[in-house]
Amino acid sequence: MAKGFTLWFTGLSGSGKSTLANAVAQELRAQGRLLDILDGDVVRQHLSKGLGFSKEDRDTNIRRIGFVAHLITRHGGVAITAAISPYRNIRDENRKLIGDFVEVYAKCPLEECEKRDVKGLYKKAREAVAAGKGMQFTGIDDPYEEPANAEIVVDTSTCTVQDGVKMILDKLHALGYLEEGAQASADHRAHHEYVPEELLKKAEAALKKAGKVHTDVLLKELHVGFTTAAHLIDRLAEQGKVSLK
Ligand SMILES: Nc1ncnc2c1ncn2[C@@H]1O[C@H](COP(=O)(O)OP(=O)(O)OP(=O)(O)O)[C@@H](O)[C@H]1O
Ligand SMILES: [Mg+2]
Repeated sequence: MAKGFTLWFTGLSGSGKSTLANAVAQELRAQGRLLDILDGDVVRQHLSKGLGFSKEDRDTNIRRIGFVAHLITRHGGVAITAAISPYRNIRDENRKLIGDFVEVYAKCPLEECEKRDVKGLYKKAREAVAAGKGMQFTGIDDPYEEPANAEIVVDTSTCTVQDGVKMILDKLHALGYLEEGAQASADHRAHHEYVPEELLKKAEAALKKAGKVHTDVLLKELHVGFTTAAHLIDRLAEQGKVSLK
């Protein structure tokens, strides 16, 4: 059986942790891995309900995520965490506890995260600070400590989601966490997999609208994983509906 591990994402809000976590999860599930995503937002609604954003509460939140990740990992599962986890010492504490710990730094300049402002929180934080209230928002009025020795650094302001996923899978492979041939068999399965006509049509429409034939378009518009996106493009090309040139 393949070894369990924790894939620990860290980075500013809007840096791409959840996006990458979900995309990698899709690929690992296609390889037959049992996994759970411990995403910051969801954890705060359940496991850490009631905790705030003080240093102490943030530490408790991250320790709880680490503890659950540890349980999943020691039973051979894959735990993928996607909380900001701004403090280096608590991440390192979890690294020690879990052992099979692969840290991914979703690196993105604050200005770019703020431009993306996926949840509108940067705007709120700026307003709170201007009003003299503060919000303890990471990057604005609370610190973010960059990892010193992350196994993987994905610069999400310069690369695509698909590039990031590939970097992560390659590293997991190099570290011996993926079964030999798992990637090949996932590709093989994808090639023979039944694809609903509806999905093919959506893919064709999305590619035409974007004016380019690239897996990236499908990752973004259809929320499918890289393998499925590549497969959809192959199918459409086989049917002469898109051109790979
Ligand atoms: N290379 C990339 N990798 C990941 N996300 C990217 C990339 N390029 C652009 N993005 C976009 O950046 C945004 C990242 O948002 P996401 O919700 O994943 O961030 P997050 O780190 O989970 O934030 P939070 O901590 O607030 O949950 C998405 O809209 C995503 O489409
Ligand atoms: Mg997120």
